[in-house]
Amino acid sequence: MSRTPDGPPPLSRNPLRLVKYVNDIRKDSIGFVGERFRLYGDMYYAPLGKTRLYVTRHPDHIREVLQTQGQKFGKTTTGNAARQLHRVLGDGLLNSNGELWKRQRKLINPAFHKRRIESHADAMVSATREMVDGWADGEVVDVSRAMMELTLRIVARILFDHDPAGETDAVAGAMRAFRDLLGTPALLPEWVPLPSIRRSKEALARMDDVVYGLIDERRRATDLDERNDLLSALVSALDDGSGMSRKQLRDELLTLFLAGHETTSHALTWTLYLLSQDTEHRSAVATEAASILEARAAKADDFPALEFAGRCLDEGMRLYPPAYVISRTALEDVEIGGYDIPKGAEVLVWIYHTHHDARWYPEPERFDPDRWLPEAVAARPKMAYLPFGGGTRTCVGKHLALMEARLILSTLAQHVELSLVAGHEVVKDPTVTLAPKHGMRMRVRRLH
Ligand code: HEM
Repeated sequence: MSRTPDGPPPLSRNPLRLVKYVNDIRKDSIGFVGERFRLYGDMYYAPLGKTRLYVTRHPDHIREVLQTQGQKFGKTTTGNAARQLHRVLGDGLLNSNGELWKRQRKLINPAFHKRRIESHADAMVSATREMVDGWADGEVVDVSRAMMELTLRIVARILFDHDPAGETDAVAGAMRAFRDLLGTPALLPEWVPLPSIRRSKEALARMDDVVYGLIDERRRATDLDERNDLLSALVSALDDGSGMSRKQLRDELLTLFLAGHETTSHALTWTLYLLSQDTEHRSAVATEAASILEARAAKADDFPALEFAGRCLDEGMRLYPPAYVISRTALEDVEIGGYDIPKGAEVLVWIYHTHHDARWYPEPERFDPDRWLPEAVAARPKMAYLPFGGGTRTCVGKHLALMEARLILSTLAQHVELSLVAGHEVVKDPTVTLAPKHGMRMRVRRLH
């Protein structure tokens, strides 16, 4: 007997409902899915044309999908979002599956080991200092944009040992193009002469020029062992003796480049917003930074001592997980939480809703860094918190991002106090990542 979770009637039976569905999802996908969980429970089934969609928020299901039965699932490669990601990032780590993924992950992992991450700490802090030094007392800055530029600069240094200042236009243009491309309606093929499609293709071509130029320069270099950037590590990471192809290197680099800055930027922006609404906790972050760092620059070794800043970021990523939903496709028939999921079906793990579930987080909308004290963490199911995903496909940049975000937040707190500009409308924009729709306009008060 087939055990299928409860859920809405299939959309294909009524075309008018399809239009309403697309509209509702576009307007407020988080609210829409939340309402369905309320109606149907922790897992619901929502057939969508040819796609058999299972949607879950429960930590037990998530553990099975990502971990204990993780080998029965692959990254979803069909559907608009996956296709668009593939257009830009090719077969990089985020999109690849099977043997290719396994081989590439093994090659890339060492570049994210603790010692290597720590070696980038000074670059993170000095880039933050340069940004803050450019802010005047009383100035209003769009913190969302500032964090995006900062994390972009940092990831470029880490990946390429390269400050993209000279190529800022190509890099920033490609980032915008990437977002444009992801916003392209599902049914339009790439050759349609829409200005947005043309613009994004041009910008991506420019970005490719920059990235291929850097790859070729490294492949000619004779001093790779002495260099500390990830590209050098990848070029010298010989797999079967021949290394990665130029195209595979390009896909991996663009993947790390894109995945490695936008998410960290959002984590910081949302945390700064939450702290601006909770001045007691904002002061506590500043007090911690002042007492640990005094007037000197933060270092990698300070990471454990800046623990309150870390807890605020953990809570920020709970309330606003930058990667708020992830998707898998069943590679074979599988049973999850007592339900039968057939081969080829898609499973959506709605991280946002897991993070806002009152069963794991009483008063879930309240910002409370104490939820991250060790006793509180131990009392919750492990998979009730997954800003970096879980199982074998856990974010490769997790420790880098945690180090970077903590050092940036503490360095900011050491020098400035940020307050939301009165009347600024804060709205969630869940597209590829969970962005603030209208940016985050904040007033700077210099502390010294
Ligand atoms: C706060 C910052 C970050 C967040 C919230 C985040 C979140 C995530 C999540 C949820 C996944 C899993 C996706 C899935 O299971 O489908 C993931 C994977 C990935 N992330 Fe991150 N990430 C962050 C920072 C970074 C950084 C700094 C890098 C690289 C420099 C990075 C590179 C990647 C890559 C390459 C993958 C794919 C890993 C694989 O499938 O083997 N991320 N990230």
